[in-house]
Amino acid sequence: MADINDNPYLAHMHDSSSNGSSTGANKAFSQLVPGQTTAAQQEAVEDSSHNGLTGAAYSSRYKSILAKRRDLPVNKQRQGFLDLVHNNQFVVLVGETGSGKTTQIPQYMVYDLLPQVEGKMIACTQPRRVAAMSVAQRVSEEMDVKLGQEVGYSIRFEDCTSSKTVLKYCTDGMLLREAMSDNMLSRYSAIILDEAHERTLNTDILMSLMKTIALKRKDIKIVVMSATLDSEKFQKYFYDAPLLTVPGRTFPVEVYYTPEPERDYLEAAIKTALQIHATEPEGDILVFLTGEEEIEEACRLLSARGDELIRRANCGPLLIVPLYSTLPPNMQQRIFHKAPEPRTPGGAPGRKIVVSTNVAETSLTIDGIVYVIDPGFSKQKVYNPRVRVESLLVSPISRAAAQQRAGRAGRTRPGKCFRLYTEKSYNNDLIEQTYPEILRSNLGSIVLQLKKLGVNDLVHLDLMDPCAPEVLMRALELLHYLGALDDDANLTPIGHMISDFPIDPQLAKMIISAADYGCTNEVLSIAAMLSVPNVFLRPREAQRRADQAKAEFAHMDGDHLTLLNVYHAYKGCTQPDKWCWDNYLQYRSLKSADSIREQLRRVAAKCDIPLVSNNFSSPDYYPNIRRALTAGYFMQVAHLERGGQYLTIKDNQLVLLHPSSVLERKPEWVVYNEFVLTKRHYIRTVSEVRPEWLLEIAPHYYDLSSFPPCEGKRVLEKLALRNAVVGDKKPKKDRSEKK
Ligand code: CDP
Ligand code: MG
Repeated sequence: MADINDNPYLAHMHDSSSNGSSTGANKAFSQLVPGQTTAAQQEAVEDSSHNGLTGAAYSSRYKSILAKRRDLPVNKQRQGFLDLVHNNQFVVLVGETGSGKTTQIPQYMVYDLLPQVEGKMIACTQPRRVAAMSVAQRVSEEMDVKLGQEVGYSIRFEDCTSSKTVLKYCTDGMLLREAMSDNMLSRYSAIILDEAHERTLNTDILMSLMKTIALKRKDIKIVVMSATLDSEKFQKYFYDAPLLTVPGRTFPVEVYYTPEPERDYLEAAIKTALQIHATEPEGDILVFLTGEEEIEEACRLLSARGDELIRRANCGPLLIVPLYSTLPPNMQQRIFHKAPEPRTPGGAPGRKIVVSTNVAETSLTIDGIVYVIDPGFSKQKVYNPRVRVESLLVSPISRAAAQQRAGRAGRTRPGKCFRLYTEKSYNNDLIEQTYPEILRSNLGSIVLQLKKLGVNDLVHLDLMDPCAPEVLMRALELLHYLGALDDDANLTPIGHMISDFPIDPQLAKMIISAADYGCTNEVLSIAAMLSVPNVFLRPREAQRRADQAKAEFAHMDGDHLTLLNVYHAYKGCTQPDKWCWDNYLQYRSLKSADSIREQLRRVAAKCDIPLVSNNFSSPDYYPNIRRALTAGYFMQVAHLERGGQYLTIKDNQLVLLHPSSVLERKPEWVVYNEFVLTKRHYIRTVSEVRPEWLLEIAPHYYDLSSFPPCEGKRVLEKLALRNAVVGDKKPKKDRSEKK
């Protein structure tokens, strides 16, 4: 990424504003004094005929958006806000969703700190990638610049910024990653931590980090923004920071509950949406569901049944729009499209139905929503340190979240919220607040990043809510087993390398180890395929054909090598989009895997990891890839017990092969990528491994004396004994022999 300091464009900006000679220069702009601007001065800049950032004349679209921006609640408090930032290093800002926090406050900071003159950027963090992209897009329009130029975004595996960028929206995880190489965040003059109420793991760590940075960098400003009112905790945490409250502008929302619990919330949500469409006055509908598959399914059903409704009951046309994190940007923009016009003049009005994950809860505002359907669930991270399982689980939301969701119905006029659960359940079953993510996450990756940041004393890290000691211990243990930390919990050279990869430590370890087995090229491809949403499509109406298509790629050793087969075939085909379509593969995911692979390859090259392949005809071609897999995931192994079920090793959890696995023959030993918690426990993306590899590759972990008794343990014990005997007789086999 380019450094803002060697940006010739900025020098130009500086010149043109100081001598005011360039044509069309924004005069008001050249009069701003960094860190001392007033609301009136900023508004004068915005009202000029020419853009102070680009020198170009403002478009008419700019002017029409500007009028709307002036109406936002935060704009009324612009002077109050500037006074607070001028006099304080930390400011806490609380405001109702839609009041203009995310889109406006960063712009006020741009005009106040003049990054284009001063050479330091403004960053605004978002917990969700969709929000970062979508808001950056909107703000680039508001500032009348091209997205990716003066205003950009940065999310994992996608950097849409340039040397001209002065305002950057990024995920909290990306900023944290940046801090690893630039501990003082010296490229920034202000950091805005948005959606702080979400209490994501990364935001919690960033908040703690900002406190440390602020002590050393008196020039940096930090604004913490939140949509809920429990601001006291934030104020206190940030050295009694002042609070700015932006009063909301909302209309009353009537809340309805179901009289009986719903057995199938997806079905209930669809029925409710269509009922609203058939019977309620004009106004768009927002449905909260939990994830991509569910949302796509709901959209399909809504569209089919909606068509029928329109035909039979003469209802208005429908625009049905999904929203989830992996949707490509042009599809995301559709949530802002207008509801369709009536089919005939004066006919029944059209309606937009947005089916979204909880990104629409507080991160994105969609104007025009009048009806909200809330089934009461979202996908949440859960972590059980005892069995080292982290999983995304569809779980009941909190009362605070339910209130936020209802609020989305009253943005533009009075609305209605349909909760698909009983009132009793709302009062008795939902918890008050969602627990901060730090209390329910595997901390392996974050601990590694902190180590890289030089934070060694993790126990005494100044966190808003301290993490549980057991969870922290598990993280240190994982990193130690991976060889990322030495006995004194210091980063090892491998640990440094692992932390350079923007992926889970195990996955990074797998890539690094692949060099020992001569197969980094293949393992990079597998790692990339594991980093994208599911590539296999399985539409309800064509499941058999989809399964047949998948079977063509199946590798007898398991799902990882099947993914490799898919990737290789994709790279070899001539018309990738058509080819994907014909083979029931998600083109988007494969394209993205290709780009991720390239990024991982660059990190690997930077770490001096040789990029090599074994000879395809070698009998070790595939086994070596699986050895590398084992080197990363030896802690995620399951053994087939005599009863026909798998038990995870060391934790003795009963698990089933996920039905999506190509492994029908149930090999005795498997390594898995993911533990899926549903009513049953599944392991997903699974490959066969050899038990002797476990002892060979991770002897420190497979110290059998610490294992609870089970068949797997007995098999390994026998093997270890035999190895010891053979080992006495034969010279020891080392890994390099197998290359
Ligand atoms: O962050 P906060 O929830 O306070 O509000 P925001 O995201 O800054 O949005 C402020 C307003 O900008 C919204 O109420 C919308 O009217 C408008 N907006 C829009 O029209 N289109 C977008 N893509 C984003 C925001
Ligand atoms: Mg916001």
